[in-house]
Amino acid sequence: MTTRILFVCLGNICRSPSAEGVFRALAAEAGLEVETDSAGTSDWHVGNPPYAPMQAAAKARGFDLSDLRARQFTARDFEAFDLIIGMDDSNVGSIERLRPAGSQTPVQIFTDFTSETGMDHVPDPYYTRDFDQTLDLVQAASLGLIARLS
Ligand code: 4NP
Repeated sequence: MTTRILFVCLGNICRSPSAEGVFRALAAEAGLEVETDSAGTSDWHVGNPPYAPMQAAAKARGFDLSDLRARQFTARDFEAFDLIIGMDDSNVGSIERLRPAGSQTPVQIFTDFTSETGMDHVPDPYYTRDFDQTLDLVQAASLGLIARLS
C-alpha cells in the first residue's frame, strides 16, 4: 500500500522541499512505496523552485531539488495525504487551523521521527543561513520515518 506523505513549512522553498527531496530519495533506496509532496503555510513563494542556496547545499550531498515548485497548504491536503509533517510548532499550528471537522489525519513535527539530533524542530535556514543543519536534521528524520514505515 502506498503511503502519501506531505511535508510542510512556512515558505515551501527551504525546509519542506529539502525534506521531500531527501526523504523521496532515501525511501526509493529502501524500496518503500510512498507518494510525497511539500507545501507552505504561506503563499509567498507559490510557483517558485527551492531557494538557490538550499538547492546548492542539497546538491552537494547528492539530492536534486530542482523539479520541485512551491504551493500553499490547503484544507484538502488532510484528505489527500495519510501523514502531514511540519517542521516546527508554528507550522503545526497553521496546519491545525485548517483541519476539517472529523479529519483524523495525523500531523507531526519531522524531528519526532529521530531521537539522534536532540532537536524538537527544524530551524528555518532562511533566517539562520545554516543550510547544512537543515540537511542533517532532515536526513536523520527521514531515516527514522523510513524505519517507522518499514
Ligand atoms: P522555509 O523558509 O519555511 O523553510 O521555506 C522560509 C523561506 C522564505 C521565507 C520564510 C521562511 N520568507 O520570509 O520569504
